[in-house]
Amino acid sequence: MYPSAGGPTRRLTETKTINGVTIPEDTMVSVNPHMLHYYEKYYPNPDTFDPTRFSKENEQARPKCTFLAFSLGPRDCIGKTMALTEEILTVASLLKNFTFQLPKNFVLRTNAAGIIHRPADGMPLRAVRRT
Ligand code: HEM
Repeated sequence: MYPSAGGPTRRLTETKTINGVTIPEDTMVSVNPHMLHYYEKYYPNPDTFDPTRFSKENEQARPKCTFLAFSLGPRDCIGKTMALTEEILTVASLLKNFTFQLPKNFVLRTNAAGIIHRPADGMPLRAVRRT
């Protein structure tokens, strides 16, 4: 849900009217994937951990352009498949060997100001080896 990279920015090659708003040619337009991923119309209860959101059926039920962590279109991320494969393997091997605990009452604040979206106050995660 938290997109780790910023959103796609594009320069309009022609004037466009979207939902009654006219945007002139040459304007730089940016889409905010974080806001999109927390839009309840497409992602109900966005703060709940729910991996089934990304099941094949649920993905097919949403318009394709509602998930932008890797952008979309001819200039989207060419490393998407590799990144997703690495993530799955890394998370699976960590969870096989450790459980993770956050301090009670920890509230995640994020900083999206840089290129990479990251925790604003660090991540006090405690890894406990499974026995
Ligand atoms: C979690 C990991 C990653 C995320 C979230 C991510 C996200 C993105 C995003 C949002 C873009 C911008 C596309 C746009 O402007 O429309 C991008 C572009 C790009 N990414 Fe990734 N990326 C990831 C991993 C990787 C990896 C592993 C590689 C290479 C092995 C890679 C290579 C590239 C390249 C070359 C572009 C530029 C594509 C172009 O301009 O045509 N990325 N990525």
